[in-house]
Amino acid sequence: MKISIKSTLKWWHSLEHGTCIHKVFASNAAGISHMKLHHPVMVKEVLDSLYLANGGVMLDMTFGAGGHSKEILQRFETCKLVALDRDPHANDLAKDLADKYRGRVLPLLGRFSDLDALLKENGIRAINGALIDCGCSSMQMDSPSRGFGLATDGPLDMRMDGTRCSRTITAADIVNHSSCQDLSVIFEKYGEEKHARKIARTITHYRRTCGPILTTKQLADVIETSFDKRSKRTDACGRRTHSATKCFMALRIFVNDELNELYQGFKTIEKYMTTGGRIVTITFHSLEDRIVKDLLFHNSSTTIQSETHKKWIALKKKVIIPQFEEINANARSRSAKLRAATRI
Ligand SMILES: C[S@@+](CC[C@H](N)C(=O)[O-])C[C@H]1O[C@@H](n2cnc3c(N)ncnc32)[C@H](O)[C@@H]1O
Repeated sequence: MKISIKSTLKWWHSLEHGTCIHKVFASNAAGISHMKLHHPVMVKEVLDSLYLANGGVMLDMTFGAGGHSKEILQRFETCKLVALDRDPHANDLAKDLADKYRGRVLPLLGRFSDLDALLKENGIRAINGALIDCGCSSMQMDSPSRGFGLATDGPLDMRMDGTRCSRTITAADIVNHSSCQDLSVIFEKYGEEKHARKIARTITHYRRTCGPILTTKQLADVIETSFDKRSKRTDACGRRTHSATKCFMALRIFVNDELNELYQGFKTIEKYMTTGGRIVTITFHSLEDRIVKDLLFHNSSTTIQSETHKKWIALKKKVIIPQFEEINANARSRSAKLRAATRI
């Protein structure tokens, strides 16, 4: 299977200077420790799907606030947990959990694409269960200094790694340095935004006439001017959404190379998972779900199903979605899709 985001990223390497967004919001970095922690999605369904004999090695690929990890440690009393996240703040929380559950938790800071090397470095040769809970955490979304959210103003950043990797692109770099054509492709491909071309034109016109776009609010306001004031957008549950929501999601996916990361993470899990081990994925976007379906069940139009090459068997044929009560209590769970499979 070929995912071509990397090729779209190539143009970036010719750029010498990133856009300095953090000057504008230098005083905003504090306060992350007071954030409301991420609320884990479909906990019962995750634990039931991950069920395996006590004592194995479980891998939480997306530790976040550790909501799922804590439940895994409690439910599987003798298991060891490897807790990966690319976000240094999440890694700090994983270290706290390691202190609490002495000898049972190994916190790892890195991306899915670093996982193979990290597991080797730490002498881990096999895993018995893995969870990938895609996307961003509430702490990332709700922290203005991280520049993911539409609700509050902050520097247009969106890097899940924060500032730990030098020379990584920010959303501001993309918004201010991409051609109209590239912006349009990003919004259409990763945000499934129908008005991608029009929005890209509005942004490039604004850049030419008013200067760079440096904050989340500035970008949201510019995108909003592409739409008729009377037009209203709603989500799958009929709730009102901002007209920039899809573009923000597209930028986040692009900045963090999320689809390639997912593919690479999956390949590493495939390599380390013992026969009979289980993988659980939670996706929030049709492109992510397509990658997972393709890798697990070889059922996309791009691959030909071959029984001899099968590596996983689905635990349930149908995708699992949250119960009505969960969606009501936690709006962020509304587009979650859970898939689970056993390694054969
Ligand atoms: C939806 S949150 C996970 C929440 C977590 N399950 C909980 O209960 O708190 C996703 C987390 O995965 C991390 N993440 C996303 N993509 C990643 C990647 N490629 N490598 C490592 N971590 C990643 C993000 O930084 C974020 O903290």
